[in-house]
Amino acid sequence: MSRTIAELARLAQEAFKQSYAPYSGVTVGAALEAGDRIFTGCNVENASYGLTVCAERVAVFKAIAEGVRDFKRIAVASNQERLMQPCGACLQVLSEFCDDLEIILVDQQGNTSTTTLKALCPTPFKLE
Ligand code: THU
Repeated sequence: MSRTIAELARLAQEAFKQSYAPYSGVTVGAALEAGDRIFTGCNVENASYGLTVCAERVAVFKAIAEGVRDFKRIAVASNQERLMQPCGACLQVLSEFCDDLEIILVDQQGNTSTTTLKALCPTPFKLE
């Protein structure tokens, strides 16, 4: 049986409990759904700020490293009051593997809003 949006949102909220975000204080969690499997990720910051990796990319890279590339949906939750949009770098990385993807945004209170990769990143960079 497929998961509800609320279940995916919950998994993303669980994931940000592992965030390492001592510099920004912004904790982000992602739950990437691929068939029956879920790959979670959290943001991992670094004293050399530019080395920080976002939650979404951690989740994607975990999946790729396990041989999974067929993604269906991703939920992205944060500790911020407002819904947080995935950054351009994460949208570009997701676009490498998916033509389109449902993206569920989750705020601090657990409110959700659904959008798509195509809507947020209609023309990703591609090498022909
Ligand atoms: N962050 C994510 O994890 N995902 C995004 O899509 C945007 C930003 C993280 C990176 C950094 O640790 C914190 O949010 C503040 O920028």
